[in-house]
Amino acid sequence: MNHPDKQKSYEDEQKRISETVSKIKHRIAVFSGKGGVGKTTVSVNLAYAFQLEGYSTGILDADITGPNVAKMLNVQDEMIYLDEKMIPFEKYGAKMISMASLLPHGQPLIWRGPMRSKVINQFLADVDWGELDYLIADLPPGTGDEILTIAQEMKPDYAIIVTTPQEVSVIDAERAINMAKKLEIPFIGVVENMAGFVCPHCGAVAEIFGAGGGEKLAAEYDVQFLGSIPIDIDARILSDKGKPIVLEKQNSEVSIVFKSIAAFVAEHYKKELLTKLV
Ligand SMILES: Nc1ncnc2c1ncn2[C@@H]1O[C@H](COP(=O)(O)OP(=O)(O)O)[C@@H](O)[C@H]1O
Ligand SMILES: [Mg+2]
Repeated sequence: MNHPDKQKSYEDEQKRISETVSKIKHRIAVFSGKGGVGKTTVSVNLAYAFQLEGYSTGILDADITGPNVAKMLNVQDEMIYLDEKMIPFEKYGAKMISMASLLPHGQPLIWRGPMRSKVINQFLADVDWGELDYLIADLPPGTGDEILTIAQEMKPDYAIIVTTPQEVSVIDAERAINMAKKLEIPFIGVVENMAGFVCPHCGAVAEIFGAGGGEKLAAEYDVQFLGSIPIDIDARILSDKGKPIVLEKQNSEVSIVFKSIAAFVAEHYKKELLTKLV
């Protein structure tokens, strides 16, 4: 049996998590089977695409051992606490929390799953997110503890699976779709990233990672295909500088796709609400 004090602190934390979650209208988990396919890029740019549509948005960096959101937004400050609550960083108008702000630069975090889950719980229970339209959780690759914890505690209503068109990534994305189904996340969408590279010199398109893998996968599993994002050198350069491309180069093809995905998802929620009302 659990020690009564432990049980009480668990119950208190659960209560605080429920309070946080109840104030966030839509919760999106971004994950994939494979690393380096663009989860963090998609999480960050989608957050600002929602922001551009006038929604209040937050990003929860749930990649505890490889937190990249702070870098992609050039947030280097230390965390501020107020009345035992962590104050999320505000960057370009969106809120953000990342383990990177709690770690000395370059230091690895060697933690087993339960410790990583504990931090995610704290990011929900003890961060003052306030009222939000969207909270996006950026997850590490694979189907490990982080996604289980996010599914149980944040209760996402939309899973966005990121894949490149390449078979090795699509196979892993298949696992991620099945995971989302098992976790009973009500809506699942696939984003294909790094689909085609337009040569900045001659304009020819090179399909570096192949083409169409994400769309085919979505059709096979009967989930929503949300869009194909090309490879754009500026997307990489800007992300290294901490500036989301969707804010910096709003008319680039990459930004246009991000904005269309955000508009689609927002419309989806509106329709959902209508069907609940009738
Ligand atoms: N569409 C794209 N065009 C150019 N670079 C991209 C694109 N998507 C991601 N990248 C770059 O690829 C790298 C890996 O992306 P990232 O979002 O960190 O992947 P993940 O979170 O899945 O590990 C980053 O340097 C990022 O800037
Ligand atoms: Mg990442």
